[in-house]
Amino acid sequence: MGFTIAVDGPAASGKGTISKRLARDYGFGHLDTGRLYRAVGRRMLDGMEPVEAARTLNPEELDDAALRLPEVAQAASRVATIAEVRAALVDFQRAVAARSGGAVLDGRDIGTVICPDAPAKLFVTARPEIRADRRWRELVAAGHDVSFDGVLDDIRRRDDQDMNRADAPLRAAETALVLDTSDMDIDTAVATARRFIDEKRPES
Ligand code: CDP
Repeated sequence: MGFTIAVDGPAASGKGTISKRLARDYGFGHLDTGRLYRAVGRRMLDGMEPVEAARTLNPEELDDAALRLPEVAQAASRVATIAEVRAALVDFQRAVAARSGGAVLDGRDIGTVICPDAPAKLFVTARPEIRADRRWRELVAAGHDVSFDGVLDDIRRRDDQDMNRADAPLRAAETALVLDTSDMDIDTAVATARRFIDEKRPES
């Protein structure tokens, strides 16, 4: 079993960017688990029953740029409340975590449910307006026609739904390092995370 870094946090908190940088720096694999739920949400919007969609998900669908859109995020958050959908996605996530050499998984329940034994856990957060601003800029830069208010509304609704669902609600694992990136640039956030992770690594 490789070394697993579990990164959780609310919508657009910066966990994806931090996770990608950590994976690159350590030479680990990376899985953005939100893409699984977004792909199931996308299939639901296309008329498929969500549990069936989760059970038959195709890895190629995870790369679709349209998965980033707020309406797909809303659908993802809705399907993510269904216990059978979550259960259908567990094995795939754990298989990535078990890859030799190490992996970074980011999501909502990695440190609490998917990889409770992960030696390094982070909980990345930021104030909602800051998160909405970052996500809005990212979507506009990618050519999507979205309003700031629409993005903020999506984030608030998902925060509420993700924190209050019965199955695998969004919360920090007990041993997680909480990183509030509201007033922190990406380099500082990554450097802080690395110091914490290096203390947990056997070779350090
Ligand atoms: O990128 P962003 O933080 O906006 O969202 P995401 O990580 O792509 O996740 C989209 C939605 O999928 C979330 O709002 C959650 O409802 C759900 N999700 C989840 O329930 N568990 C995960 N491990 C990852 C995502």
